[in-house]
Amino acid sequence: MAAGSADRILLHRLESLQRAGVTHLIRRSPIDVCAVDEVSAGVEQETAPSNTDTKKTDHVPMIAGSTHSDQQGRLDVLQTTVAACTRCEELARTRTQTVFGAGNPNARLVFLGEAPGADEDRQGIPFVGRAGQLLTRIIEACTLSREDVYILNILKCRPPGNRNPLPEEAGHCREYLNAQLAIIEPEFIVCLGAVAAHNLLEMDAPIGRMRGKFYLYEGIRVLCTYHPAYLLRNPAAKPPVWEDMQLLMSEMGIELPGK
Ligand code: URA
Repeated sequence: MAAGSADRILLHRLESLQRAGVTHLIRRSPIDVCAVDEVSAGVEQETAPSNTDTKKTDHVPMIAGSTHSDQQGRLDVLQTTVAACTRCEELARTRTQTVFGAGNPNARLVFLGEAPGADEDRQGIPFVGRAGQLLTRIIEACTLSREDVYILNILKCRPPGNRNPLPEEAGHCREYLNAQLAIIEPEFIVCLGAVAAHNLLEMDAPIGRMRGKFYLYEGIRVLCTYHPAYLLRNPAAKPPVWEDMQLLMSEMGIELPGK
């Protein structure tokens, strides 16, 4: 490609990012992560409603471009590979099964957690324990359901005793995560907690400083917030999470009741 044409494409890309509110581009190897320092001013704090009787808005489809069944098929093939993975000797030896991910293979929105716990290891489904039930209520408070979004983790195996994933383990699983994201092609990722945020974005700032604004990962807008397990221990952290969800819904064009 001629240098002039490549420059024009780059210029257009930068102008479009600027229109989307991107103010910083940070070059990281091997990926580019762009911080968007545009916490929407005036987002009101309120406690996340726990009722689940909200209806999904019908004016913003949660299904994007390509076909659902193609993507499900590709995820199924990848899931078979992941199920046989032995890259981490300890995890492969101690897991009951791998926990690949669940939800809409064509979702606009992905929730990214840390690693399966005991309940997830038993059932093979992410976020089904107490923290998972809280995540379900958060999703429903956003007028969505678990079937609208896709839920996955940095690690596909439970670390013994629920210890934090080791960097080497996260490195082994990264190819699977990136392949899942490449198939699903979401527009938005919510990182649940510091482990997800730090691993995905290769940053190490406290989660309290990372939340409330968007980053870009491979063209996907990323919002970081507190992990539901942390909310169970610290209910005072619920209002900021709800604030983050309101910001996310507003960026996704999804109306919340009473807003
Ligand atoms: N916590 C996580 O981070 N992921 C799960 O799947 C369950 C609990």
